Amino acid sequence: MQIQHNISLKNFNTFGIDVNAESYVSVKSISELLEILKLKKEIFILSGGSNLLFTKDINKLVIHLNTKGIEDQELNKNEVLISVQAGENWHDFVLWCISKNYGGLENLSLIPGNVGSSPIQNIGAYGTEVKDTIYKVKTIEINTSISKTFKNSDCNFGYRNSIFKNELKGKYIITEVVFKLTKNNHSLNYSYGAIQFELDLKKITSPNLKDISDAVIFIRNTKLPNPNEIGNCGSFFKNPIISIQDFSKLKKKYPEIPSYIVSDKEVKIPAGWLIEQSGFKGKRIGETGSHKNQALVLVNYGNATGKEVYALAQNIQKTIYENFGMPLDIEVNVI
Ligand code: EPU
Repeated sequence: MQIQHNISLKNFNTFGIDVNAESYVSVKSISELLEILKLKKEIFILSGGSNLLFTKDINKLVIHLNTKGIEDQELNKNEVLISVQAGENWHDFVLWCISKNYGGLENLSLIPGNVGSSPIQNIGAYGTEVKDTIYKVKTIEINTSISKTFKNSDCNFGYRNSIFKNELKGKYIITEVVFKLTKNNHSLNYSYGAIQFELDLKKITSPNLKDISDAVIFIRNTKLPNPNEIGNCGSFFKNPIISIQDFSKLKKKYPEIPSYIVSDKEVKIPAGWLIEQSGFKGKRIGETGSHKNQALVLVNYGNATGKEVYALAQNIQKTIYENFGMPLDIEVNVI
């Protein structure tokens, strides 16, 4: 383990933003992590870098979590517990589960990032959220280096939200996530329109885990830009949730507005639609812009600065507020 100085973080964030880290260390084990914490430096924890927008240099010690390891243990006849180290790549882990016929994560195929960050924003896609499979989250408290385990119910999971994004932000390092998955009687979820459409095309009537994963991979590849080709962090904003009353007023003005029922009082509106209606979809401004196939994704055409992307995000927020009277919350962690 070696601490390096003045390192570019461009290759360590999927937005591909070029900022400087005052110092940087890659840790490959918990004992290395504990050794680094003993230095009592101001630290910045870097995981897969897939939900970050750097707007400035990081004048701290960047700790890049690269711990690896996956262990499965039978819980009962139909369930298995899988302990995964934080530095494992998310999609590789999902594929590993599918190869072992462990069910629960197939809808979350191809999400960029590492396992350790999956609970922070409760990653989700195609009708599934990771909170539905998380059994517990193992952490180390930064100030004391003491280990603490959070049960699922301790994590206050919500839509793209958890305790680690709020009260405990910057206080704990997630070192391991334990998932509870099914071994046989899988409860498959392919009701999401686009998945059902792909399965119908292939004439698959009783899909297995791999069929669903393949459909999700296909949909993501057609809709979402590949961060290896064009810098991005997936959805930049959250889909706003508004009251039924506010929704009825909007529906009168925009009869075609798409929506999903959240509860008997609330409705979720796709931010992608709001952004497209406001004329940003596919529009390039300097080195940044909103993606041509999915307006909710902001992209870096190559040399964008974080400030440039953030300025576009603020412009979008202002315009949506003027046009539709609703605030758009940023999903990505702006640093
Ligand atoms: N839409 C538009 N124009 C666009 C994009 C979307 O009009 O440019 C409208 C369409 O009506 C479309 C609807 O929005 O039917 C929903 O679009 P999509 O299915 O792509 O889903 P989303 O609500 O935009 C959310 C998640 C994605 C996740 C997909 C699929 C959030 C913030 N985003 O996007 O998650 O992959 O559903 O489940 O909830 C991410 O968080 O990074 C992410 C990619």
